[in-house]
Amino acid sequence: MLDLDFPIGETLKQIRENKRISLKKVSEKTNIDFTLLSRIENGKRLPTKEHINKLADYYDCDKEYLTKILISDKIVYEIKNEEFGLEALKIAEQKMKYYTTLFPELDNGYFKLESRRYIGNKAKLTDWIMEIIRKETNDNNSFIDIFAGTASVAKQAMKYYKKVILNDILFSNEIIYKAFFKSENWNREKLNELLLYYNNLSANELSDNYFSKNFGGKFFDYNIAKKIGYIREDIEQNKPEYNEKEYSILLASLIYSMDKVANTVGHFDAYIKKPIKKKNFNLKLIKCEDFKGVEIYREDANILARNIKADIAYIDPPYNSRQYSRFYHVYETLVRWHKPELFGVALKPKPENMSKYCTIKARDTFKDLVENLQVKYLAISYNNTYQSKSKSSENKIKLEEILDILNNVGETKVFEQNHKYFNTGKTEFSNHKEFLFLTKKYE
Ligand SMILES: C[S@@+](CC[C@H](N)C(=O)[O-])C[C@H]1O[C@@H](n2cnc3c(N)ncnc32)[C@H](O)[C@@H]1O
Repeated sequence: MLDLDFPIGETLKQIRENKRISLKKVSEKTNIDFTLLSRIENGKRLPTKEHINKLADYYDCDKEYLTKILISDKIVYEIKNEEFGLEALKIAEQKMKYYTTLFPELDNGYFKLESRRYIGNKAKLTDWIMEIIRKETNDNNSFIDIFAGTASVAKQAMKYYKKVILNDILFSNEIIYKAFFKSENWNREKLNELLLYYNNLSANELSDNYFSKNFGGKFFDYNIAKKIGYIREDIEQNKPEYNEKEYSILLASLIYSMDKVANTVGHFDAYIKKPIKKKNFNLKLIKCEDFKGVEIYREDANILARNIKADIAYIDPPYNSRQYSRFYHVYETLVRWHKPELFGVALKPKPENMSKYCTIKARDTFKDLVENLQVKYLAISYNNTYQSKSKSSENKIKLEEILDILNNVGETKVFEQNHKYFNTGKTEFSNHKEFLFLTKKYE
């Protein structure tokens, strides 16, 4: 193990000398200029991240470790002659902690589960939700998140329960759950190499494809769409080389990376009709959270409810007429890759996976669900986010109706919280209330 106290140049020199390789040979093998390499080793220049990647590959040593030394060198260089350097560093550390909670996008360069735009996701409320569930229930081992969406609540549940069942009707969500949680060995090096290859692709050398023909210049910059289509096809062509975990990680990583460059306000019901802002498309891996006790389903909640058993069910269905399969149709088409014919301005396939919770049948469907779930406790999220907006965004089940249904199946408590809600960045609903109903089912 090398010493973290050494600057990056000296560290690289030590690695090279330990391996008894000449500077000339390193220069030839990595294509990094000889004089530049010498200056880096002598501490006269800092290497770039690209240099570090090339050198780590060639020396077969830990990239992450070298990158950390490089970043710390940069920080030291910046503050070493400052009178208040150390104090400033401490403040910077606090700021970093604050920013990572505000922008929880990346963890060590990998996408976290929560760093995805998804309507109605509960990422900011998981602590509150789980705290109530923990307080109000006891002696429990198993948890179902039956409308799991981004799986942010299920992820929190994994801290406390041995078995966590995840379900959602979307294909794209199922693949994301497998990628993050399925417990199966996978080859990080292999996928990292593949990503490096994908990230170095030049759109000009790629042909037009299903994805670019349909979504290019609309949901994505045309060249980015070309790359996405090429990558998706390549993953499918090489599917036999991947196990289920690796295949799922590749698709989930593609979805998370696409979300960062999509020309949308966070869903695919429409794209922004202004010229598309130039962005870099940089494919990154997701950060896996393998969990041995996970069970993953892609079924209609009401059907699944009759076939599984657990102690607690968390229920967070859609409450208005907006169908998730329509809002996230691009990811559904991407994951299934059956290249369906697409229709209309938003390039949607024929309707499929339509949820009864978004129709006038919502109330009866909800009633059927809570009656048939074989659990001790039900925890139900509900909010008034869209109240008083358009008809399509009105809640399909009224708060009183939910309470009525729940009171019939068990003893029910209501918890509420004011929750700042922002729609597409413009309007703030300051009176937004988030509810959690906790029902202990009658035996
Ligand atoms: C409000 S979102 C859940 C958000 C989730 N709690 C989170 O934190 O991301 C509702 C989810 O239910 C799914 N869904 C809708 N109807 C369904 C059904 N009948 N069965 C299973 N899942 C359904 C949607 O695809 C969507 O992901």
